[in-house]
Formats: sequence, C-alpha cells, structure tokens
Amino acid sequence: MRFSSSFRTAMASPYTVHRLHMRGRNPVVKCLNTIETILRRSVGTEPVVAHTEGAQGDDSGEKDGPKSLSELMADRQEQAEKSVLISCPSRTSEKKFLKFLSKHGDINKHFFYESYGVYAVVEFARRDSVASLLESAAIPSVNHECMVPFKSRLLSLSNHSLAAPPAQQPGLPCRPQATVSINELIQRLSREDSVDDQIGALTETYQLTEENSRLRFLVCSLLKDVAAAYFPECTIRPFGSSVNGFGKLGCDLDMFLDLDNISGWNFKPPKSGLSLEYQMKRTNSERHVTQSILSVIGECVDHFGPGCVGVQKILNARCPLVRFAHQPSGFQCDLTANNRVAMKSTELLYLYGELDPRVRSLVFTVRCWARAHGVTSSIPGAWITNFSLTVMVLFFLQKRSPPIIPTLDRLRDLAGPADESVIEGNDCTFATDFSKIQLQSNTDTLEQLLGDFFEFYAMFPFSRMSINIRKGREQNKPEMAPLHIQNPFETSLNVSKNVNTSQLDRFVALCQESAWLLQQSETRTQRGSSGNRTTTPWGLATLLLPSKVVGIKGRKKYKKEGASERIKSLLETLKNKNEEPKS
Ligand code: GTP
Ligand code: MG
Repeated sequence: MRFSSSFRTAMASPYTVHRLHMRGRNPVVKCLNTIETILRRSVGTEPVVAHTEGAQGDDSGEKDGPKSLSELMADRQEQAEKSVLISCPSRTSEKKFLKFLSKHGDINKHFFYESYGVYAVVEFARRDSVASLLESAAIPSVNHECMVPFKSRLLSLSNHSLAAPPAQQPGLPCRPQATVSINELIQRLSREDSVDDQIGALTETYQLTEENSRLRFLVCSLLKDVAAAYFPECTIRPFGSSVNGFGKLGCDLDMFLDLDNISGWNFKPPKSGLSLEYQMKRTNSERHVTQSILSVIGECVDHFGPGCVGVQKILNARCPLVRFAHQPSGFQCDLTANNRVAMKSTELLYLYGELDPRVRSLVFTVRCWARAHGVTSSIPGAWITNFSLTVMVLFFLQKRSPPIIPTLDRLRDLAGPADESVIEGNDCTFATDFSKIQLQSNTDTLEQLLGDFFEFYAMFPFSRMSINIRKGREQNKPEMAPLHIQNPFETSLNVSKNVNTSQLDRFVALCQESAWLLQQSETRTQRGSSGNRTTTPWGLATLLLPSKVVGIKGRKKYKKEGASERIKSLLETLKNKNEEPKS
C-alpha cells in the first residue's frame, strides 16, 4: 500500500484525502490507489483536492485543487496553437525528422500515430517556430489535379534523398489512438484479481490518452484557422466527452464555434462622448444567425479544409451542426455554434468526475457495459445516449448513503460571484472551486457500487418518476415519455426524450441480469486451473458477454440457447418487486 511520505505531498493529492480516511479498509484503499495511478496518467486531468468531511484544515496557503476545466482548456489550446500535424513516410528516421524540424526552433513535445498513414504531432516551444516552418513549406505540384490554395498547419513530409531508407530502418513509434476490441477487453479483465481491479483496468484501457487529447485540441485549432477566414477572433473549443473526463478512445469530437469575443454582448458603450460601432447585417433570430454561420463555415470546411471529408450540414436540428470526418486524426467531428449550455453541462460533468475517482470509473464501466449490449449506439435513434447514462450514474451516486457527490442545487448554493452564469434565461450557476466542495465519507467499493447501480435501475419506478440531479431525488414525471431525465440546466427539457419503451425495457432487463450475475459466487470469483492465471471470463468480464436473456439483434446464437431457469426465476422475482407499489 502506498502512502505519501510527507503531509505536504499528501495534501496535494485528492485521493490521499480519501486514503487517510480509509486506513484499514483494504479493498477501498486498494481500489482508490489503483484509480489514482490511472487517473494521473489521464488526459490533462490533474488530481483535484475535494475535501472529505472533516479533512479540511490545510492552511498551507496553496490553492486547493487542480485547474478548472476552463484553465485546463486554455493550456491545451495554447499547446495546440504551437503545434503542427505532419503526414510522414513510415520509414522516416525519427532523429532526422526532429533535427530537420528543430531548425525552426525548440520542440516541446512530439508523437506519432497511425490513421490512413503515419502522422506526427509536433508542438514547438514558440509560436514563431510554426510561422517559420510554414514559411519554408512548398505548394505541392501535381500533374492531373488542381490544388485549392489554402495553407494550413497540416503538412506532408517528403524525402528527396536519392538513397532509399535502409530496409531495416524501424518504423516510427506510433502511439495507439484506438481502443481494444470488446473480446480483447474481456480477456484482459479476466486476468485481473478483483472486480475493483477489473474496473481500474477497463478505465485505463478505454480512457483518452494524453496524446489523443492533444490531437483533439489540435484538430479544433486547425479548424479555427478555416473559420478565421471569416471570423478572425473566433475560437473553436471541444466539449462533451472529449473534455468532460468520460471520453473513450474513438469517441466523436464535439466542437463549439465561440464567437463571444466578436458578438460584443457584454460591451458597455461610454456614457458620454463619441464612439464608433460596426455596421452589421441584422436578422430576426439568433437561431437564424447560427444556421447562417454554420452554413458558411460548413461550405468552407467542405471546399477548403484539408483532410475534412463527408461534410454534412444538419442545420434544422434542435442544435444545428456541421458533421464531417477529419481523416488525418480519424475523428468524427460535430461542429456547433451558440451552444453554451452544452459547454456548461461539460463543465459540470468534468467537475463531478474530478470530485471522487469512483465517479469516473463507474461511468466508464457503465458506458462500456451499455455499448457492449447495444443499449447505446453511435447512430442517433431511440437509444439511451451516453450523456443520459452519465446523468443516471451521477443520480445514483447522489442517492448513496452517505452521498458520494453533492446535488446540483448544493453546488449552486456554494457558487461564488465568478461562477454566476445565466444562459438564455437558464440558471447555469454552480461552484467550480473544488476547495469549497465538501464530500462525505462514503467508503463503498467500486464492486459494491457497480452491483448496486444495476439493482437500483433494475427496480427504479421509471413509469412514475423522473431522474433529477439538481435535487438529487426522483420526482413525479411531468410528461409521459418512457424515460424522463431532467436536463440539469434547461429544467423543462427531458434529455432522454428520444428513448422509447422497448429500449428502456431492454436497459432494465439488462440491469436485472447484471445485478443477478454480480451476486453469483461463480461470477464473482476468478476461476483458474492448477494455479495458472485463467482467461475464463469472470466478474465484470462476464457482464460484457452477450446477454442470455435479452434478445440482441445479430446475436441469434444466444437467443437460441434460451434463458437458464435460475435467470428466469431471478427476473421473475425482480419483475414482481418492480411492480410492488412504493411506499
Ligand atoms: P459520446 O460522444 O457518446 O462519447 O458522449 P458525449 O458526452 O460527447 O455526448 P454527445 O456527443 O451526444 O453530446 C455532447 C455533449 O452535448 C454532452 O456531453 C452534453 O454536454 C451535451 N448534450 C448531449 N445531449 C444533450 C441533451 O439532450 N441535452 C443537453 N442539455 N445537453 C446535451
Ligand atoms: Mg460526443
């Protein structure tokens, strides 16, 4: 067991706070240590100090906690603007490549990855190095095609040396940007020693890496260069799972075109004297402005954006967007504008994920489980979305005794003046200073939480009640949608309005099955033969195998097998319990 050697070091780590409370509770301490190690490696998410009740009193004078999401994003944006993306022949010498680029200035960081060829992300120490490098780049000459003369920080490296690279020249060391297959994951998890370790391994396997996070910000920055042709002061920022801490390798890249610097909504004209203002075209609604801007930027991306393919303008959606694939990164991109509430939801999810390491691990596990069973999908439809699922996990954690995370109303009460935020009449205020947020001493292990999560939703009275993370308790459903999850900020909206009864029923049936499986001793214990490490699925790995009771398209093999008597009787019991009127 690792404990920090000095108290000062101890106070710099959020998890140490928990650990100090949990001496002697081995499974919990072990679980938190594992998670701490994983999260430290994670995407720009430095540890946060959130106080556990009674653990305050650090008067070292240091600012408690890590950077807020906006500070963290500002750092990432800065890195991205000093970076270039270069397609490289795979048999390039890394040493020569770096020497060649260093002519333009010191390099802070570089890495290679594969996506339709090998690419390098190179971050210079200074912005003028990027300018110098671009200055030295040539316009390609091709015989049968014409070039759109748009210069960007997406470049190609050519090797004009007469001597061919030696055949034994090693390929460039590429960092993985995609996650493993579900079967490989099941194998990997089956080799772990406990369910908590399995959850840790799943989080480690699936979460965005440092490099992938950098690449996401770089793609936003490259796209900003395209949009800047019209709006030089604009910013393009990622939101959603790319930055909320719950992103899985391969998740889409949600982007927000931020024109607040230009719109002047917070500009106060002088009380006297002369002043000038821009003449601007007027239109009758903000939605129309958003649609026009996205339409033009969409055209620009389509015609001039290097590497951007399959551009679709989806302007009549509730939230208008431009969708395209960015080939050099392999990201599926959604560009929106005027979507500040989604930015706030992202900040809220990030905050919850940082408050306690179990939040992120449980969300990852539930998201992965849901995807494995087709409860969520990358195709829009009547499925539960990852966003809804995350809110369901948060709600469950608020309902623990004692709660693991506070309600949104509590976070609102703790907010300071700098946190005040009203967007389109919606109160989006909540505390972002981690040092103000006290957590209670809940010592549940991840294994307990996972089992109880499934049981909680196996029994939840979906037909009558709505999920509400603002209050942290279920409320009467205001409308008859099968699943009602109150939008945290636009409180009259239901984030799961799209979900139909059959999708909800599948979710509940899978929760019932998984809750039952986790209670079975044969599922919960690792089964090995003669002391060898086994790869027979057990624990969490079992929950990711195709369901035996819930029909899943394309999994006819399992449908034919039918349900075991034990599962049938369990489901019957759960069903009866579900139908009992609640007191
Ligand atoms: P994946 O892309 O599935 O990994 O998760 P995601 O969290 O990025 O979800 P998605 O791409 O669907 O949406 C991006 C972000 O938009 C979410 O994280 C939320 O902040 C926000 N969002 C998505 N759906 C809703 C919704 O129904 N209501 C509100 N208010 N915000 C939403
Ligand atoms: Mg997304």
